[in-house]
Amino acid sequence: MAELTNPEKRMLKSLQGRDGYWTLQEVLEACDWDDQAIAVSAGHGLSNHGFVKISESSELGVILGTEGENAVTDGLLEARLWEFIQANPNSTMKDISQNFERHEAGPGIGLLKGLGVRLDGGKFAYDNPDEVSRNISERTNFINSPNIDNPLLEHFKGRKNLIEIVEAVTRTWSITKSGKDVETNALEEVVKIAEITPELLQSDSWKNAEFRPYDVSLEAAIPRSGRSHPMQALIERIRSIFLEMGFSELVDDYVQTAGWNMDALFIPQDHPAREMQDTFYLDNPRQIKLDPKLLKDWKAIHEHGGDTESTGWGGNFDPEISQKGLLRTHTTVNTIQYLAENPEDSCRVFAIDRVFRKESIDKTHLPEFHQIEGIIMEPGANLGMLVTTLKTFYEKMGYPEVRVRPAYFPYTEPSLEVEVKWRGKWLELGGAGIFRPEVTEPLGIKDPVCAWGMGLERLAMLVLGLDDIRQLYISDLEWLRNQPIL
Ligand code: PHE
Repeated sequence: MAELTNPEKRMLKSLQGRDGYWTLQEVLEACDWDDQAIAVSAGHGLSNHGFVKISESSELGVILGTEGENAVTDGLLEARLWEFIQANPNSTMKDISQNFERHEAGPGIGLLKGLGVRLDGGKFAYDNPDEVSRNISERTNFINSPNIDNPLLEHFKGRKNLIEIVEAVTRTWSITKSGKDVETNALEEVVKIAEITPELLQSDSWKNAEFRPYDVSLEAAIPRSGRSHPMQALIERIRSIFLEMGFSELVDDYVQTAGWNMDALFIPQDHPAREMQDTFYLDNPRQIKLDPKLLKDWKAIHEHGGDTESTGWGGNFDPEISQKGLLRTHTTVNTIQYLAENPEDSCRVFAIDRVFRKESIDKTHLPEFHQIEGIIMEPGANLGMLVTTLKTFYEKMGYPEVRVRPAYFPYTEPSLEVEVKWRGKWLELGGAGIFRPEVTEPLGIKDPVCAWGMGLERLAMLVLGLDDIRQLYISDLEWLRNQPIL
C-alpha cells in the first residue's frame, strides 16, 4: 500500500464515510481542521495515489479595490458630492473645491453630470432629484456588496481602483473505487516529524523518528521575504556582466565642474545643453578651482584646436565657466577624468551611476536617472570592438537584436546610437563612439578610446516590461512584491 501522510490518512478515512462530492467546508469539518491548505494538500496527495478525484471549477467574482474600500467607509464620491449639494443648495464650483480634495472635484462633477446634475451659471441644477438619489443609492448598494451579475458592474469596471474582477477556484473531492478499497487499519496515523527543531537535533530522538517527506509539486503560498529593489537587482546584474567581461568599476562624485563635464569633452561653451534650463548648476560650491595648465590647454583646443590638427570652435573660451560647480549631466565626466589620471595604461572601465538633468517628469523622463558608462582604451581599439562589446553586453542581458546608427556627440568621431529590438520595435538605449583627438590629446592619451553611455532606466523598462518610467521609483509595495527576481 502507498505511503500516506497523516493528513492524507485522515482525509481518506473521512471520505470513505460516504460517496459523492465533498466541499472544502465539509472536508475541514470531517477532519477537524481549520487550515484550508492542509485539506488542499492532502487532497492533492490522495489524488496522486488515485484514491480521490478532484473536481475544480472556476467562477468570476468581484472584490473591492483600494478606492472601493474607501468608498465603503466614506461613501462614493458622487454620493458625498450630492449630499453636499443638497445640504447647500446655492453651492458653486468654488465651494466644491474648498470642501473636497483637489483630485476629487473634477471627476466628481463629471460623475454628477452623468447622473443629470448640470452646472448652470456657476450653480448646480437638476430636474429630477429623486432619480439622482435613487441612482446614487443603487451605486452605494453595489459598492457595499458587489456582485458579478449586477448591471452596474460595467459602470464600476470603468472606474479606477473601485473594484477588481477575480477568478475563484472551487474544488470538490470524491472518493474513487481504489480509495474505498484501502483498509482502515492502513489508515492509522503515525507520528511523523514535519519540522526539524534545535531540540530535536540536540536530543537523540531524531535517530528513530520518521520524517514527513516534502512534496515540491504542491501548491503553496508565496512567502513574502525581503529582497532587493528591482533597480538594485538590475544594477547588480549589469555589474556582474561587465566584471565578467574584464572591466573594472569606477565610482565618483555627483558634484563636478563644467570643465570636466563639458570642456574636457570638447562640448562648445555655447552648446544649448549647457544652459541653466538643462543643467543643475550649484550655488554651493559655485566655483571649483581647476589646474591652470588644464584650463590653458582647453582654451587653446576650444579656440583654435591647440596642437592638434583641429581648428577648434573659434570664439572666446572662458576659464571661469569651466570652474562652475554642477551636478554631473552624464557619467562620461568620470571616465574622462579616469583617463586623464591614467593616460598611458590600457584599460576597460565601467560605471553605473546617477546623473542629473533639468527634465520635467513624464512617462519617459526623470530629472535623476542612471547611466551605464564604459570605456576601452588600448592600442588598436576600434569601432568594431566597440560595437561587439555593446552587442555582447545586451546579448547577455537577454536582448540579442542590437543595431547601431550614426549619431553625433561633440566628443566622439565616429559617433553612434545603440538600439535594441523589443516587442518588434527598435528602441534607442544610448550613445557611443571613439573619443576625438580634441578630447584625448590635451590629456596625453595616445591610444584610441571606445566610449559609451546608456540609460539604465530605459533598460529597466524593457526588463520589467514597463511603459511608465515613474513606476520604478514610486515604492508601490504590491508591484515590488510581484516583480520577478532578476
Ligand atoms: N554621454 C552621452 C549621453 O549622455 C553618451 C555617450 C557616452 C556618447 C560616451 C558617446 C560616448 O548621452
